[in-house]
Amino acid sequence: MAKILVTGGAGYIGSHIVNLLGSSDHDIIIYDNLSTGREKSVLAGELVIGDLEDHAKLDALMKEHNFSACFHFAGSIIVPESVTDPLKYYNNNTQNTLDLINLCVKNKINKFIFSSTAAVYGMAPGGVCSEEMQVQPINPYGRTKLMTEWMLEDVAHAHDDFNFVILRYFNVAGANIEGKVGQCSPLSTHLIKIACETALGKRDKMFVFGDDYETKDGTCIRDYIHVDDLAQAHIDALTYLLKGGESTLCNCGYGHGFTVKEVLEVVKKVSGVDFKIEMGPRRAGDAPVLMSKAEKIGKVLGWTPKHDDLELIVRTAFEWEKNLKD
Ligand SMILES: NC(=O)c1ccc[n+]([C@@H]2O[C@H](COP(=O)([O-])OP(=O)(O)OC[C@H]3O[C@@H](n4cnc5c(N)ncnc54)[C@H](O)[C@@H]3O)[C@@H](O)[C@H]2O)c1
Repeated sequence: MAKILVTGGAGYIGSHIVNLLGSSDHDIIIYDNLSTGREKSVLAGELVIGDLEDHAKLDALMKEHNFSACFHFAGSIIVPESVTDPLKYYNNNTQNTLDLINLCVKNKINKFIFSSTAAVYGMAPGGVCSEEMQVQPINPYGRTKLMTEWMLEDVAHAHDDFNFVILRYFNVAGANIEGKVGQCSPLSTHLIKIACETALGKRDKMFVFGDDYETKDGTCIRDYIHVDDLAQAHIDALTYLLKGGESTLCNCGYGHGFTVKEVLEVVKKVSGVDFKIEMGPRRAGDAPVLMSKAEKIGKVLGWTPKHDDLELIVRTAFEWEKNLKD
């Protein structure tokens, strides 16, 4: 049994990991300022409400509990907002993470699991991203995440006993398979959530940004991963580190993708609603194709996805959205 700190565990992805950790024998403390997360989503462990900027509180928490590992989900995640307000992102994603890592090192929490993103790849040539390829993020959000990756690599290099797993998520979607928890973020930019909201009449219509890409139907292709599979990847990463695994970096995706139009067809089929879609111009910075090379995570962490099924992903997202009250 280990004691685990989970920053941002009241948010969309963190709450799914907390839910899974709840059925392990680990002891969990969730640290979250509830800026986009919500108390009701924390289904296991103890929630401590606090901000990453409150170093004294975080330090005291680390001193009180003898944490073996830290999952770090807390951060700001809206790409267009990172373009208009980059300093918010450098502050919350880079500065606050630097301070968190610093506190972890001081308090001898030497296993760190970090939520990175496919956005670090930018415009990957050919659209298939392998962990070895050169990274070139094209927006502040991706850059803030890449800076954290670099910090972790340098800290692990300087401190022999500090090890990390960096997980680069592709398009995370869906809700817990048992319907216990799901995505609540009100300002989400995630395609499947927006489409479900539109199908349910929470929005009048939705936009597709560009249908003139060189793909089979002109819309962008993305690699959608079910959030419970992503959660399991984190449990596998924790097990790997607790067994003495060395620092590593893995993509989290299924290695294949769907166009925006294909996804919307599935949402229409699952919901039974022919909701209104407007075609708009391309959005600056959208790569035509972004898919993971997905082999490494299985080999290194032993991860085996169970929910690689777009219709299942959409169904869980739709059912969650339908029942979401606040
Ligand atoms: N959702 C995705 O598709 C996706 C893709 C790639 C990477 N990620 C990364 O995964 C992580 C989790 O994303 P999510 O989709 O669950 O987002 P989310 O907004 O639902 O969750 C973030 C959580 O962090 C908390 N938080 C934010 N700033 C904080 C601070 N300063 N102090 C304390 N708590 C703070 C929020 O209240 C929230 O509970 C983020 O780091 C994000 O960059 C997400």
